This record gives sequence, structure tokens and C-alpha cells, in this order.
Amino acid sequence: MKIIMLGAPGAGKGTQAKQIAAKYEIPHISTGDIFRANIKEGTELGKKAKAFMDKGELVPDELTCDLVVDRISKPDAAKGYVLDGFPRTIPQAEALTGIRDLIVTGVQTCALPIYENIVHRMGGRRACIGCGATYHVEFNAPKVEDVCDTCGGELVLRDDDKPETVQKRLSVYHAQTQPLIDYYKKANVLVEVDGTQDINVVFQDIVKILGA
Ligand code: AP5
Ligand code: MG
Repeated sequence: MKIIMLGAPGAGKGTQAKQIAAKYEIPHISTGDIFRANIKEGTELGKKAKAFMDKGELVPDELTCDLVVDRISKPDAAKGYVLDGFPRTIPQAEALTGIRDLIVTGVQTCALPIYENIVHRMGGRRACIGCGATYHVEFNAPKVEDVCDTCGGELVLRDDDKPETVQKRLSVYHAQTQPLIDYYKKANVLVEVDGTQDINVVFQDIVKILGA
């Protein structure tokens, strides 16, 4: 089961990918999470990635493709994986197909919520600095304010969730990632899910597609 979550910033890729990974027992691989972990650890990759992420731009393909190809070659990914935030350019999609002969069994897109809706989702998002779990103060609140249900870690706003950076991320999405919708449509592997619905309803729709 090889799944790509394709959707705009705030579409709910991470939220749904975590649930898919838990239900189907496959690893959740998020390039955004990998970069954020590297930033936290102060690695060379983290330093390079941060410069692009803070501006809402994409990290260059040459820093991204090898990382993912390497990750999906690990034994825990042998029976499948859910990719969240990769590919997001045509060269990234080509790297994936060329190297691993990837069959995409499900792709999530989202009827793009209006800008205000996305800013509202991002503004209310809280991410755990310990385990990376994400919440929303209104739509998916933790049991105790600013404390992670899973590991007890502190919940914080993401650096790139300021409204002006969100606007930039959205325009980058339209220019560089949206063309992948056609790319995967042509390959006949695209399944669209309406990401504006309640979180649990979106997940039920995904399970209908992937099988119970
Ligand atoms: P990344 O971390 O991938 O961010 P993104 O694509 O901008 O998407 P988000 O994580 O913001 O949104 P999401 O769709 O995961 O939404 P979520 O589920 O959290 O990338 C960050 C940066 O890293 C990029 O800008 C780039 O610089 C770099 N990068 C990463 N991958 C790269 C690549 N392949 N190539 C180059 N650069 C790369 O939901 C959002 C909020 O809404 C949450 O609070 C959630 O609780 C809530 N929510 C979710 N679903 C619903 C719902 N149905 N109803 C109500 N609320 C909901
Ligand atoms: Mg995400």
C-alpha cells in the first residue's frame, strides 16, 4: 500500500496520514516533519532547509529526493508507506517513479478551502515539540491546553504558520504542486477526497477507498 497525500497547506494531509499509518500499520513519512526534526537537531540539512521553509518556499529537489528514496528503502517501508508532503514538484514525482517503480494506490487532494479557512486552520494548529503530533484548538483540541495527549510534550505554533508565510506557501502550492494533480490523473491513480469535511468523515471516506 503506497499512498501519496497530495493537497494544499492545511488540507489535512498530516492529520489523515497519521490515522492511515496507524490503521494500516505502515510508516508515515512526512518531509516537513523530517526537515523540522533536522532544524531542531541543528544539522546541516536543517540549516539549509530552514532558510527556505521560513520564507514559505520549497526546499530544493536535490536536498529532498535522495532523502525520501533512502527512507522508503528501509525495511519498515517494505509493505508500503504513506508519503505526506512528497512529491510536490514534477521532478520529485519523477524521481519516485524512476527509482522505485512506484504504484500510487491512493492520492488525497482536497476541494481547496478558501484562504480564510486555511489561515484559520493554521492559526489554530498546535504541534508537539516532543513527538510531532498535531492538534487544533477548535477542531481537534488536546485534553489539556498546550499539552500533548500522547507524550505530554509542549504544544507550539509552527514558525511558518504566520498569515503572510501561509499566503506564500499557498502560491507556491498553486505554481509547483498543483500540476501533480493532472500528472497523477493521467496516470489514473488519483482519488479525490473532500478535505473540508469533519476530520472523522474525511478519514471514513479514505477508508472506503483503501478498504477496511
Ligand atoms: P509541510 O510540513 O508538508 O507543510 P504543508 O504542505 O504546508 O502542509 P501543512 O503541514 O501545513 O498542512 P497539512 O495538510 O499537513 O494539514 P494538517 O493535517 O496539519 O511542509 C512545510 C515546508 O517544508 C514547506 O513549505 C517546504 O518549505 C518544506 N517541504 C516539505 N516537503 C517538501 C518537499 N517535498 N519539497 C520541498 N520542500 C518541502 O491540518 C492543519 C490544521 O487543520 C491542524 O490544526 C488540524 O488539526 C486541522 N484540520 C485538519 N483537518 C481538518 C478538518 N477536516 N477540519 C477541521 N480542521 C482540520
Ligand atoms: Mg503537515
